[in-house]
Amino acid sequence: MKKINIAIIGLGNIGTYLFKYLNKNKKILAKKNNCIPNVLYVSAKNKAKKRDLKISKKLWLKNYLEATKSKEIDLIVELIGGAEGPAKKLVFNALKNKKHVVTANKALIAKYGDKLAKIAEANKVNLEFEASVCGGVPVIRSLKEGLIANKINKVYGIFNGTSNYILSSMTNRNQNFREVLADAKKLGYAEANPSADLNGSDVSDKLKILSSLCFNSFINNNIHVEGIKNIDKDDINFASRLGYKIKLLGFSELLNNNIYQRVHPTLIKKSSYVGSIDGVLNAVIIDGDPVGRSIIQGEGAGPAATTSALVSDISSILRGNIKFPFSISSKERKKLKFKNISERNFSAYLRFEVLDKSGVLSNITKIFSLNKVSIKRLVQNPKKNKGISSIVIITHETKDRYLNKIIKLISNKAYIIKNPKLIRIDQN
Ligand SMILES: NC(=O)c1ccc[n+]([C@@H]2O[C@H](COP(=O)([O-])OP(=O)(O)OC[C@H]3O[C@@H](n4cnc5c(N)ncnc54)[C@H](OP(=O)(O)O)[C@@H]3O)[C@@H](O)[C@H]2O)c1
Repeated sequence: MKKINIAIIGLGNIGTYLFKYLNKNKKILAKKNNCIPNVLYVSAKNKAKKRDLKISKKLWLKNYLEATKSKEIDLIVELIGGAEGPAKKLVFNALKNKKHVVTANKALIAKYGDKLAKIAEANKVNLEFEASVCGGVPVIRSLKEGLIANKINKVYGIFNGTSNYILSSMTNRNQNFREVLADAKKLGYAEANPSADLNGSDVSDKLKILSSLCFNSFINNNIHVEGIKNIDKDDINFASRLGYKIKLLGFSELLNNNIYQRVHPTLIKKSSYVGSIDGVLNAVIIDGDPVGRSIIQGEGAGPAATTSALVSDISSILRGNIKFPFSISSKERKKLKFKNISERNFSAYLRFEVLDKSGVLSNITKIFSLNKVSIKRLVQNPKKNKGISSIVIITHETKDRYLNKIIKLISNKAYIIKNPKLIRIDQN
């Protein structure tokens, strides 16, 4: 039987699990793919580090870059991480030297995916990155293969398990952001430095990759990104009273030949499908023609789920399935118009913390009407004996820039005691 020699570079959370998995499942993978996946070499930063696995000394490369030069190696699995440094060097050199590459590195693909794809195509090798978007959820393979017949209009969903865990725990356990974050760190759902999960940049990287696959375009950095750090318990409770949950969602959609990419906390109906996805789960919803709406849901991170995606990519290479990294050739990928969301219409939730005095509410509603934003619902919640009040307004659909203008105008008023909130609503 044919054999493919593999080098696994990076033996952290993911690399360790993958190494063990491939050794344990070599026979069944060989039978399924009619080709043997043979792990010939490994590398990590510190060879002397104590690891939870036994590796024969002869498997260790002296230097990780040797994998890119070795004539014996067919396929390099990059599991170092980061858009720059050793991961970048490894993947560029590997493709230039005609090695297939499998990576879980969303930061690298979001930044250099277009350049890397051109090199892979020129050298007729695979560049596979299923594990870079939503871990075990097979969304990239679904877009490239199962849904190939479709013109995609929209892709959206929950692409980050840490933020979903935090928001759903704040909702279900009525805890505040800090308490839940501390809990998530203890349970291993949040990293020691969770900023990429909380500020939306992790979702942004994933969404850029998905957009380019859905719309046959190059990766585009015109994306609106907000994280969840400003969401507090009062927002969660007000949203709940109004029939909504708050989720960090990513959206990429084609509207009138323009693409809008956005990542932000979003109010969605409690009864909606996305509203029911709690905890660390991810869910991707794809609207395509002729298929209609498809949903894929599952574990978005962790060594087991990520290994599932990596093995799917490795198997594709074992079967000799050489294809374009982004579905179509780089020559055919298009430069589309990616527009800022300021001209897109939204219905929104706005919350103002104000001094509880007469004239405040009428001043706020006057500013809304002067700026052509009509109010659908209004809730006023005075805090007894404190002389302050929360005013929550749900608007009808209006341009994003009008909503932001209102926030700016009202922020400057003397009666405002905290920065006002704007959370967009999704009606699906
Ligand atoms: N963790 C997840 O749930 C998850 C999910 C989806 C995707 N991913 C992606 O998977 C990748 C790996 O994540 P991880 O959680 O496994 O990271 P990790 O635990 O930090 O492991 C990184 C590995 O890279 C090695 N490394 C660092 N610099 C190196 C160098 N110069 N040469 C060779 N090896 C080097 C480290 O070596 P030492 O062991 O010697 O320090 C370590 O083994 C990242 O791109 C991440 O975004 C992770």
